[in-house]
Amino acid sequence: MGKRIGILTSGGDCPGLNMAIRAVVSHAKLTYDWDVVGIPYATQGLLKCKANILNLHGLDLHGIDPLLSMGGTILGSVNKGDTLAQAEQILAGYQALDLDALIAIGGDGSLAILRELANQGNWNLVAIPKTIDNDVAFTDRSIGFDTAVNTITDALNRLTFTAASHDRVMVVEVMGRTAGHLALQAGIAGGADVILIPEIPYSLAQICQHLKETRDKWKRKFALIVVAEGTKTEAGKTSYYTDSLGEVRLQGIGQYITEQISVCSGEPVDTRLTILGHVQRGGIPSAWDRILAAAFAKTAINLVAQEQFDRMVAWHNGQVTSVPLELVISQSPSLVAPQSDFVQTARSLGIYVGES
Ligand code: F6P
Repeated sequence: MGKRIGILTSGGDCPGLNMAIRAVVSHAKLTYDWDVVGIPYATQGLLKCKANILNLHGLDLHGIDPLLSMGGTILGSVNKGDTLAQAEQILAGYQALDLDALIAIGGDGSLAILRELANQGNWNLVAIPKTIDNDVAFTDRSIGFDTAVNTITDALNRLTFTAASHDRVMVVEVMGRTAGHLALQAGIAGGADVILIPEIPYSLAQICQHLKETRDKWKRKFALIVVAEGTKTEAGKTSYYTDSLGEVRLQGIGQYITEQISVCSGEPVDTRLTILGHVQRGGIPSAWDRILAAAFAKTAINLVAQEQFDRMVAWHNGQVTSVPLELVISQSPSLVAPQSDFVQTARSLGIYVGES
């Protein structure tokens, strides 16, 4: 009997989500002849009992499929509010949609909430990891990370020329929440001189010393500093503000670093700050994010066919695998290990990455 599969995207958007949606629909239809319905705005769509059938070629424009290259998510998403407080209505909405299984594309926060709902409502849940932060445990890669690394690298390339023209120090604040994967990998690719991440303590005196050495020893008169938004001040304070909806937003560490290094060893330093913000979440998905999204979607649908639920697809050792969702949630967020290969790679390039 043909199945009816629901799909939703939850949490912060990222490039590659539409490719995942497209690939789920293709595999479900072409291989199994199942129907896929898209649930708008994640749990809010369930609550309102909304679902639209997604046709294989429904979004084609003259045979061109825009989903391949479109950032964001055509289903919409939510990453705020107390979802579990609305559990009763969400469970009732899910029931009414008459789904055989639900494919949820989300980060660790969303997946934890959805798993809780799935347990309460006996849903057949399969998860696909996405987040530019790349901090979902048990997967080496999540959808969106590669594109965001490319976007930051591109920004660093651009900043290099203006920094060099004025002999300036450019501080670039990037996303990542409590994880430094984005800052570390983009910093390596983009030629940073200093990379500051939440996982590794640093010293402002050492940053100044490093900038001085770069200038005196190597005659490089400009510098790039990449700082992850979750990095604490030297005294161990997190920089954030609370928005009008009461949500905590990480922001401000870039300003702190910029101010602190604007005078180094008594000398003024011409310093500028760039906060990349949501630019990192936008744009055309990279080839790798599209390929990963398609590979994840294929395995997710196969898990539904095998009735293997409460699992998340994952990328590990060069292939797609799957892991119990419970494990993923208990081990997330996955942070940068201070002795990891990429940290050592950065140091081997002469980048200051904090205390060794
Ligand atoms: O988790 C992804 C992420 O982009 C973080 O890097 C960032 O802190 C946060 O989401 C921003 O979320 P919002 O969309 O609520 O501004």
